[in-house]
Amino acid sequence: MDFSLKTAASGVKTKANVFVLPAHESTTLPSIVDEIDKSLNGQITIRQKSKRLRLKNGQVNGFTVVEKASWSDVILAGSKKGASQRDWIAFTTAVFNALKLAKAGSVVIDLTQVDAALSEALLIQLLAKTFVEVSYQYDTTLSDKKDKLLLKKVHLIVSSANAANKHAAELGRSMGLGANVAKQLGNLPGNVCTPSFLAKEAQGLAKSYQKVSTEILTEAQLKKLKMGSLLSVTAGTDEPAKVIVMKYQGDKASQKPVVLVGKGVTFDSGGISLKPGARMDEMKFDMCGAASVFGTMKAVAELGLKVNLIGVVGAVENMPSGCATKPGDVVTSMSGKTIEVLNTDAEGRLVLCDLLTYVEKFKPKAVVDIATLTGACVVALGHHASAVYSNDDDFQMALKKAGDVVYDRAWPMPLWDEYDEQLKSAFADMGNIGGPDGGSVTAACFLSRFAKNYTWAHMDIAGSAWQKKKASGRPVGLLTQYIIDQI
Ligand code: BES
Ligand code: MN
Ligand code: ZN
Repeated sequence: MDFSLKTAASGVKTKANVFVLPAHESTTLPSIVDEIDKSLNGQITIRQKSKRLRLKNGQVNGFTVVEKASWSDVILAGSKKGASQRDWIAFTTAVFNALKLAKAGSVVIDLTQVDAALSEALLIQLLAKTFVEVSYQYDTTLSDKKDKLLLKKVHLIVSSANAANKHAAELGRSMGLGANVAKQLGNLPGNVCTPSFLAKEAQGLAKSYQKVSTEILTEAQLKKLKMGSLLSVTAGTDEPAKVIVMKYQGDKASQKPVVLVGKGVTFDSGGISLKPGARMDEMKFDMCGAASVFGTMKAVAELGLKVNLIGVVGAVENMPSGCATKPGDVVTSMSGKTIEVLNTDAEGRLVLCDLLTYVEKFKPKAVVDIATLTGACVVALGHHASAVYSNDDDFQMALKKAGDVVYDRAWPMPLWDEYDEQLKSAFADMGNIGGPDGGSVTAACFLSRFAKNYTWAHMDIAGSAWQKKKASGRPVGLLTQYIIDQI
């Protein structure tokens, strides 16, 4: 999908299948639509002016144009005055669906008629992101393939086709592409999306983008690095674990990188602390943190941003077997700290803690780990927000703010000592669980013990990464926006 910006004069002359007019009661018809309106006996004006027929945000009304015009259809689309991010995303989703129904290959959308509480650049960014995201459909493992998307050209009429607005379209498009990468990896079944599959995915990214390079660490190398905690998770499976390192170098080598660390448990059965059967299939999504690292890499590489970004993914499968780690086993992490594995289902933190030690070698500017870490996070925040924890208040707020901008929201959570004390163990430096209360917080406290030497944040995306068995592509938008905000 290609986005181009036009001013009103050139926009109305641009040939396309459909013209979309965002409408609220005080929308003024552009003169060319005015003529069409006359040919339709004023139906457009009537619809738009009549209180009874007034379109709510996201409701659409289509007209076939009989007169000679640059387009064969006009769609009137209700847009709320003072629209928020949420309203605007609902609007753009509805417009996209209407265009799909109309089998449109090209469209002109008049953004000058929009009255929103957002800048024009942000309107463009969110429209592009939404259009690319809603065009994603999963059909990889289905015999009946979904229809190919026809919409190729999106022309936006804006008040000024300046560099900032052009950049906004690029940002939105790239964020959308990145989110779609995350969705696709998340949706793939666990027998396809294995640690080895993720490693190949990283090599594919490095092939596609000159500034991306990748290194795959095998179990033998992980043993040498003394990642005893991560390796304890993979003990019960036949799938070889991989630690995947992706480097995007867009700035001078002397510039410190932002490091993203993703939980890539390609299937989480719980291990010996086996999960109940109901909805266990959803644990194929337990690599969505890793998927968001891939997606953010994709977005940043696509944009060619002037930053250094490193993505590290811990890809493992958590299975029970005769060789699996048992409750009560004590393992030694790469940091030297010992951990009593009281529950083999609290495996994400066992993977991440070694990666958090490993990434110290990159002398990071900041580290964010992203993980579908706890069911408790879903209880706390539902599916609407990711939880964000940090050892730096400004960093925590910068991540929250980035999420607010692109409507990929995160909510700040505490890392208090009282919670941390719940991790006490009689047989090791710490246990891997903190009891039944405050589960998302104690998991974050566990991780914080391994992230003392740099600015760090943890995002628990257990609620936000998927919903109704569909991966959401979150928090690629938040992470990419955060990186952009740093430039
Ligand atoms: N991957 C799960 C967390 C999860 C569960 C995410 C449900 C989304 C939906 C994680 O590995 C896990 O099993 N956590 C345990 C921790 C507990 C044993 C302390 C949990 O949340 O039950
Ligand atoms: Mn688990
Ligand atoms: Zn898990």
